[in-house]
Amino acid sequence: MTNNASSLRIVGGTPLTGEVSVRGAKNLVPKAMVAALLGSTPSTLRNVPNVVDVDIVSGLLKLHGVTVQRSDGRLVMDPGAVDHAEPAEINVHAGASRIPILMCGPLIHRLGRAFIPDLGGCRIGDRPIDFHLDALRQMGAKVRKEAEGLYIDAPEGLIGTKIELSFPSVGATEQVLLSAVLAEGTTELSNAATEPEIMDLICVLQKMGAQITVHAGRVVRIEGVESLQGYDHLALPDRLEAASWACAALATAGDITVLGAEQASMLTFLNVFRQVGGKFQVDDGGNGEPKSIRFWHPGGGLDAIAIETAVAPGFQTDWQQPLVVALTQAEGLSIVHETVYENRLGFTEALNQMGARIQVYRECLGGSTCRFGQRNFQHSAVISGPTQLRGAELEIPDLRGGFSYLIAALAAEGESTLHGLELIYRGYENFLGKLTALNAKYDEL
Ligand code: EPZ
Repeated sequence: MTNNASSLRIVGGTPLTGEVSVRGAKNLVPKAMVAALLGSTPSTLRNVPNVVDVDIVSGLLKLHGVTVQRSDGRLVMDPGAVDHAEPAEINVHAGASRIPILMCGPLIHRLGRAFIPDLGGCRIGDRPIDFHLDALRQMGAKVRKEAEGLYIDAPEGLIGTKIELSFPSVGATEQVLLSAVLAEGTTELSNAATEPEIMDLICVLQKMGAQITVHAGRVVRIEGVESLQGYDHLALPDRLEAASWACAALATAGDITVLGAEQASMLTFLNVFRQVGGKFQVDDGGNGEPKSIRFWHPGGGLDAIAIETAVAPGFQTDWQQPLVVALTQAEGLSIVHETVYENRLGFTEALNQMGARIQVYRECLGGSTCRFGQRNFQHSAVISGPTQLRGAELEIPDLRGGFSYLIAALAAEGESTLHGLELIYRGYENFLGKLTALNAKYDEL
């Protein structure tokens, strides 16, 4: 099984049954790798998945003189000889990754300056970096825009200060954490994101010697310290991948056990999964057995629901796209209000071509009003089900939308062809091997 086919032919209609495993969270591991730059000694990261995002960050670290030893699931990073890299090389290496923006703080601390190429990332909205640049400027950095990207330096070093985010942005919170730990003085961050991956990054930094306190009401205080040591950390499991397989079980009327899945970081998802009519069973493991959660479709109809994505501890926006496919099989009208990204419902068009009945709206439907209300963003959807999905030819638009198309093709009647699997390789480890383990019918093209 290679994980580098670009296209698949899928024969739908077979329930996915069996066991898959998830390893370290794709939205924590690259950030913990960047944190290794802050250490004066080597760091070890465990439970690392083989996904393209890890390849990209390994390449960027090596470009900056970090030695990276990689054995299955483990990374040992030695930042002893951190050095500048050529902007053109960073551009080539970073590709579509947004991770270079998070390297700014650590590189400014180590080298006095940093470079950010024009950033990529999934096509789910404008993906600006204004919060990041505002935070760095408030800490004393100077930002200079050139054709090839942004040059950032801090001649006086980074200075702790009070920073208030206008939205609890995950990336901007990570930016402040990675910049403030070695800044001079204390930084107080308000309206911070508190996703499990953020808390795991704080665990990594605390292991390195950082002084970070999380207060009620999204306030995080970071006291700058003189130096940090390397860490040894076991990355938390990928709750986004686990939920993706759970939605696949619902959409294909299957039964999937996800080894490594952790209940505590999936509480909100598990509530919704149960509301839709799915069944799950948590196994806390122990005595050498891994944690796991079994997700299955109990038979009979699924129930339509109203759901609103939100920052943690709400329903994670990355769970939305796989869930929408399962909701095409629910009886009645489901409502989805996407409040984190302005354009994360575009993938539903292709589902309609497969026979789904999904209407998108610019109004805030279902719950509270959000930043995107009446701003001409189609960020609410009404899904009428159940509908029989039919196979189609599909172009993968983004990471989670791509996995959703995979689920839709597996649930559909007849054959589908999926193109652009590269986007799925970025965040789903060995997913072809996992499809085989779940009795999916497909050929690599
Ligand atoms: C992280 O993206 C995740 N990516 C996303 O997962 C996830 O959806 C997102 O957090 C929200 O949880 C990684 O961790 C690699 P944000 P990030 O900053 O940090 C706006 C996946 O599928 N914003 O919390 O980029 C932004 O446009 C990916 O795994 C600004 O306006 O997300 C968005 O509307 C997709 N200015 C909102 O904030 C900024 O400077 C949330 O973005 C930064 C963000």
